[in-house]
Amino acid sequence: MNSWSEGYFTDSTYTYGYYRELSPNFMRWCLLLNGIVAPESTEESFHCELGFGQGISANIHAAATPGKYFGTDFNPAHANLANELAKASESGAKFFEDSFEEFSEREDLPQFDSIGLHGIWSWISAENRKHIMEIARRHLKSGGMLYNSYNCLPGWAPAAPLRELLSIYDRYSGKSGAASGRVEPALKFVEEMINAKPAYLNLAPNFAKTFENIKKHNPDYLAHEYLNLDWDLMYFADVVEISQEFKLDFAATASPLEIVDRLNFSAQAIEFLRKIDNPIIKEQTRDYFINRQFRKDIFVRGIRRITAIERLEKILEMRYVLLYPPENIPLKFPSPLGEVQLAEEAYRPILEFLAEDSYRPKTFGEYLKLNPRKNANNILEVVIILVNGNHIMPCQSEAAVKLVKKPCERLNAHICERSKFEDTINFLASPVTGGGINVNLFNRIFLAQYKAGNKTAAKIAAESWKIFSRQGQKLIRDGKAIETPEENLAYMEKLAENFLTKQLPIFKALAL
Ligand SMILES: C[S@@+](CC[C@H](N)C(=O)[O-])C[C@H]1O[C@@H](n2cnc3c(N)ncnc32)[C@H](O)[C@@H]1O
Repeated sequence: MNSWSEGYFTDSTYTYGYYRELSPNFMRWCLLLNGIVAPESTEESFHCELGFGQGISANIHAAATPGKYFGTDFNPAHANLANELAKASESGAKFFEDSFEEFSEREDLPQFDSIGLHGIWSWISAENRKHIMEIARRHLKSGGMLYNSYNCLPGWAPAAPLRELLSIYDRYSGKSGAASGRVEPALKFVEEMINAKPAYLNLAPNFAKTFENIKKHNPDYLAHEYLNLDWDLMYFADVVEISQEFKLDFAATASPLEIVDRLNFSAQAIEFLRKIDNPIIKEQTRDYFINRQFRKDIFVRGIRRITAIERLEKILEMRYVLLYPPENIPLKFPSPLGEVQLAEEAYRPILEFLAEDSYRPKTFGEYLKLNPRKNANNILEVVIILVNGNHIMPCQSEAAVKLVKKPCERLNAHICERSKFEDTINFLASPVTGGGINVNLFNRIFLAQYKAGNKTAAKIAAESWKIFSRQGQKLIRDGKAIETPEENLAYMEKLAENFLTKQLPIFKALAL
């Protein structure tokens, strides 16, 4: 542990994740869905991410959102990569290596339209949570949004002792250094304990299953999640109370599906919840019905509401873009009530409509004009379900797209260039959505080749195979490595054909 780390795990860097919830555009859309006014997106907007980790989300949003981006993470290795990416994109983002305390004391910060923190709140001390709230108190505009995610009760209650034991074992076993060297012995210890059947398992029968799920994550993630000195579980109402002290009111969750009660609660639960007037008691009680473990909340400094009609019109008149070919979008998804099967006849035509005209972003107002007998409220539910599943995303205005095109181009080129040597950053910045798009290694390499002027599958495959073979890599088909260079090249060409026909039209619509 380093002296600057305040008990936070810093012996390995964090994963290279992207989180759309940190996107100012997505925060705005979630507020709109809940009928709440969000700050407008302009060139004069300011945004901030606290504890940005490797800075993937922060850099994608800095490049893809109009306005200026700020952020801090006290881990110098994290700040280093974040700044490399900011330099490459020329987004003008200012990323610091300050602790939350140091950042809260800065005199050179603007008033932010949004502040985002993901995966921070539960893993830091009460003092650091105060510093974060102080940053919001001093620097969030009135009407500004704060996104905060955290592990919560009651969902974590039965498995919390599991995390405690991992952490206690790590602290007292004298292991230090890299994540894998510490995580593995702690996991082994807990596994052996479970096999010896402690009485606690009778009270928490899911303990062993939770442990099996935890084991699947990578060691760096596990170290940051389970080996920190601090790990505070809170109820939703506790976080609301702390936030209110700093003039922040709970506005919405960043999980759109939560607004559709019939997909989350039984009729009996809906009836029970309907009778609760106080919104905080109601939201807290919903966590008991869902047995929620993790919350993604958006708070606003001074909530203003719009009417139901304005909300509906605004949502349907925004442009949306499809992120995958229609045939790849599953019409089944899990919900707290079990698996939901969507009606083919309702969803397929909408997906086909969104794919028409080379995936050009479209409004649902257009769809309703073409299908005047459809009901706007039913279409709203379709929009919610598709956005929730990350199958479609709301788009920013065409003026905003123009403003951010260049920084996105530069960031994406840099990420694709890095992909020749390492497969770490799996996201590119879309000027159309203002957020990140998951693009796998092959598609990143193929896209770079296509942009370099190699327009046929044969050419893309030949150039891409050079990159892979130089590093002694072989392609994998059906779980087995392909042996000869000729077979590798032939398979690469097949993948490149799929890229040209299936992926490229979508990447073009997203302006990647
Ligand atoms: C679990 S990671 C989450 C990273 C990123 N938000 C994400 O979700 O990918 C928490 C991050 O907060 C940073 N952090 C923890 N305590 C901090 C503090 N007191 N000041 C500044 N950064 C801190 C860590 O370095 C780490 O990068």
